[in-house]
Amino acid sequence: MTDIRTMLDRLWDDYARLNPRAKAVHDLLTARGERVVNDHIAFRTFDLSPIALPAIAAHFTARGYTHGGDYDIAEKHATAVHLEPPEEGLPKVFVSELRTGECSPALRAVALGLAGQVPDGAVADPAFLWSGVPWAPVSHATYEALKAESEYASWVAAFGYHANHFTVAIHALAFTQDIRALNAFLKAHGYALNGSGGEVKGTPAQMLEQSSTMAEEVPVAFADGVRNVPACYYEFAKRYPGPDGRLFPGFIETSATRLFESTDVTRPAG
Ligand code: NI
Repeated sequence: MTDIRTMLDRLWDDYARLNPRAKAVHDLLTARGERVVNDHIAFRTFDLSPIALPAIAAHFTARGYTHGGDYDIAEKHATAVHLEPPEEGLPKVFVSELRTGECSPALRAVALGLAGQVPDGAVADPAFLWSGVPWAPVSHATYEALKAESEYASWVAAFGYHANHFTVAIHALAFTQDIRALNAFLKAHGYALNGSGGEVKGTPAQMLEQSSTMAEEVPVAFADGVRNVPACYYEFAKRYPGPDGRLFPGFIETSATRLFESTDVTRPAG
């Protein structure tokens, strides 16, 4: 069985190749002498066989990850879980799926058509997680139609399987553990942040503050030609310790709702 660290390396290499700007932010931090700790990685999928959330999560639970929390991202019609790593130094994993039954018949039909193209057994290969689209490319018109209803659906259709984001653990940074100072540093270096709901999602009282870059547009081969569309984003998370000294382990649904919009360039950038 492919070990978890090899999988995480492959996922990072794939993500860094697809999103040069995220890689550049990572390199900007490491050039300052930081050892960047990854708080969590996230995946998106549809709630359809054989690609539904449990099939994605199974790669991690098979490697010692345990269930950490359940989330309803109601406004985005998404269900999510987070998985806790088996040992220190490994990231948490956040997997969400679109509840296609809550979407229009047209959207659900497209999603069913995509899921139906995934070969039996393909999802069981860990490399599936960084394999891109396991279906024939959709047309740009289909992408736009999906996007008009659900930006999430259009992202999954266009990109399929990659880490949707990696996340810098601000609480493990040396140069600042202040999310606003980190945001100012990133903006001073020319990186646009997701301003939806404010640049900082969450509060110290909620024990989790998050921000993110806006996803950069990258060329995607649609059925009818190549177009630039937003790919992945880079997230920043500061976890606060509770009375027992343990860092808050979970996620905040209202913050996740706004962070999802980091792949939606029609949203305000900060
Ligand atoms: Ni996240």
